[in-house]
Amino acid sequence: MTPLIFFVLFLFVIYLSSFQFSFTAAADPTYVYHFCSDTANFTRNSTFESNLNRLLTSLPTNASRGNGFSRGFFNATAGQDPNRVYSLFLCRGDQTTDICQNCVTFATRDVIRLCPVSKDPIVWYDECLLRYSNKYIFSTIETTRTVYLWNTQNATDPVKFNDLVGSLMSEAASQAVNDPKNFATKMANFTSFQNLYALAQCTQDLSSSDCNKCLRGAIAQLPTCCGGKQGGRVLTPSCIVRYELYPFYNEPATPAPAPTPVLLSPPPPSSVIRPRGKSGISSSTIIAIVAPIAVAAVLFVACLCFLRRRAKKKYNAVPEENADNDLTILESLQFDFETIEVATNKFSTDNKLGEGGFGEVYKGVLPSGQEIAVKRLSASSGQGAQEFKNEVVLVAKLQHRNLVRLLGFCLEGEEKILVYEFVPNKSLDYFLYDPEKQGQLDWSRRYKIIGGIARGILYLHEDSRLRIIHRDLKASNILLDAEMNPKISDFGMARIFGVDQTQGNTSRIAGTFGYMAPEYAMHGQFSVKSDVYGFGVLVLEIITGKKNSSFYQTDGARDLLSYAWKQWRDGTPLQLLDPNLTDSHSRNEVIRCIQLGLLCVQEDPAERPSMATIVLMLNSYSVTLPSPQQPAFFIGSRTERSLPTKEFEFSDKSTNKSMPWSVDEASITEVYPR
Ligand SMILES: *[C@@H]1O[C@H](CO)[C@@H](O)[C@H](O)[C@H]1NC(C)=O
Ligand SMILES: *[C@@H]1O[C@H](CO)[C@@H](O)[C@H](O)[C@H]1NC(C)=O
Ligand SMILES: *[C@@H]1O[C@H](CO)[C@@H](O)[C@H](O)[C@H]1NC(C)=O
Ligand SMILES: *[C@@H]1O[C@H](CO)[C@@H](O)[C@H](O)[C@H]1NC(C)=O
Ligand SMILES: *[C@@H]1O[C@H](CO)[C@@H](O)[C@H](O)[C@H]1NC(C)=O
Ligand SMILES: *[C@@H]1O[C@H](CO)[C@@H](O)[C@H](O)[C@H]1NC(C)=O
Repeated sequence: MTPLIFFVLFLFVIYLSSFQFSFTAAADPTYVYHFCSDTANFTRNSTFESNLNRLLTSLPTNASRGNGFSRGFFNATAGQDPNRVYSLFLCRGDQTTDICQNCVTFATRDVIRLCPVSKDPIVWYDECLLRYSNKYIFSTIETTRTVYLWNTQNATDPVKFNDLVGSLMSEAASQAVNDPKNFATKMANFTSFQNLYALAQCTQDLSSSDCNKCLRGAIAQLPTCCGGKQGGRVLTPSCIVRYELYPFYNEPATPAPAPTPVLLSPPPPSSVIRPRGKSGISSSTIIAIVAPIAVAAVLFVACLCFLRRRAKKKYNAVPEENADNDLTILESLQFDFETIEVATNKFSTDNKLGEGGFGEVYKGVLPSGQEIAVKRLSASSGQGAQEFKNEVVLVAKLQHRNLVRLLGFCLEGEEKILVYEFVPNKSLDYFLYDPEKQGQLDWSRRYKIIGGIARGILYLHEDSRLRIIHRDLKASNILLDAEMNPKISDFGMARIFGVDQTQGNTSRIAGTFGYMAPEYAMHGQFSVKSDVYGFGVLVLEIITGKKNSSFYQTDGARDLLSYAWKQWRDGTPLQLLDPNLTDSHSRNEVIRCIQLGLLCVQEDPAERPSMATIVLMLNSYSVTLPSPQQPAFFIGSRTERSLPTKEFEFSDKSTNKSMPWSVDEASITEVYPR
């Protein structure tokens, strides 16, 4: 058996800025890990390379044609032996067709960047995995390359917790083995206020018995890698197991009466009935939930208006109230669908500016000559028309130099559209991560951008009438105007989409990324301090010109934050600086910004400064900055942990028994005859 390569990552908390709403067209998938095989390289301009290129470029189209994205799995080959390329991808079972497609398409490009000459690489994201090989890889288990991840937070009552993890994972595995997509999720109560969530999945080409073998083997490793931890994952090329104290997958719709749940196998008595549909949440359920709410809301508002009008007739002297005011504002904000169609040339592809987290964005020109950006929201917002309007009115009232202004909306039939001011210079990521364009952002510009973003967030947090938590701060959400002033976009989307902090909705927003901030895991709620964390990541990205989520450093630091922390601790913070800035920077400002960035990403939210303090720190050198603690998000290799040296072989039964874990030993022995 090939010696197992142990790579152990440990993630502390989430990388906030990769936060996305899982029901929308996603941006880049969340990278987890990759292996290039160093033993098999191809040579440039070889037949293998051309087969590989042909395969990777045609994969998205061919998979789409073969319904691979809706199934969440696809395998393909190109060329003839000995230069044949075998390839497959797997999307996490709860992901929508769109997210799956997005992830795989991204992966086909990313994998070549990560492993430019490898004949046998694999890359994992939260949303999907992609691998190819010069060897036949279908319908065979591969577990020699394994990744372990765990949340460093300890579970309370570890013995009870480990028991529950073991039994829940085991149930999930049994269910996955019998599932046509080889996928299952399970949930159980740990304490009265904490639930445990588990996921098990195999590639769809495996037989039931191979799937079972792979999953049981992976589960058996959980005690060693992740015992007593609040979250853990074992990823192999053939199967994946994971558990967390928060819903990291899109939960199947409620077991309640979805009209025609098509069950492909009879559910075991305790299982949740999962209606099978494109998104995992059946549209009939959404309608069932939304329709009554929407009708009630409309009736309520209608009554309110009626009563108000009557009241007004009686008491003419009553002062104007906010709600009336809002109705006036609402009228002024409303655009016809035709106007938008004309402005955007019927949403022509020439006008398309990009694809955000919530839908496609088009450039438009109003008859008055005013330029606008039109965001056509993806359909499933799960919110009634009236609520949508109410939230738009609230968000339109937020006005600040460093926020993209919402000019209005359009609501007709299925269409939900937001109209924004047009900001000419694209977004920060367009400049920041592009080696050719980075140079256009000198230090003084970058420093001004940092200050502007800070003031924009401060306004959202403190100064507007509402407290708005952005939740998705990242470089692509920072637009730049003609003078390169930053303007934050996509704020208030959580409100507009009707995703509030209440429990019912948290499951919907989780899922597109790794590990959550502790405050989110415990309270299911984002706080202003989670935005501060996102801001800190942005500051470090602006200084380094590097993207946190695709940061691959060879010297052990696998993410930007731990690299920044290392340089800071070693007393060499200026090493972090984007080489483009070497000549132009102010040493003092750069070091203060690095320190500030590190203060923002500290593990304990209470230790992170508030936006008000941050703005003060940026404006005044006389404010002394505290010393930062180690960042919340940290990945390192922990090979010193005593993991078994051979994959899935637990010859030492005593090790296994000593684990406070209910791994089903019978099935392990049955599955691994020696
Ligand atoms: C394959 O390429 C990688 C990276 O370029 C290198 O580290 C490795 O030694 C190569 N392996 C062989 C067998 O040439
Ligand atoms: C591969 O082919 C291209 C043109 O066909 C050539 O420019 C390039 O130098 C070749 N590369 C190698 C490594 O042979
Ligand atoms: C993609 O599909 C086309 C048409 O069906 C086929 O000719 C081609 O070989 C496929 N490509 C791969 C890599 O399977
Ligand atoms: C996909 O995998 C199956 C085995 O699971 C194999 O029979 C089939 O030929 C593969 N398809 C392609 C296009 O290689
Ligand atoms: C978790 O528990 C271990 C020992 O059981 C301890 O060494 C470690 O510091 C704890 N970690 C945290 C984050 O509390
Ligand atoms: C979890 O507990 C809640 C109440 O505390 C209960 O309503 C629910 O049915 C429990 N769920 C499971 C899966 O046991």
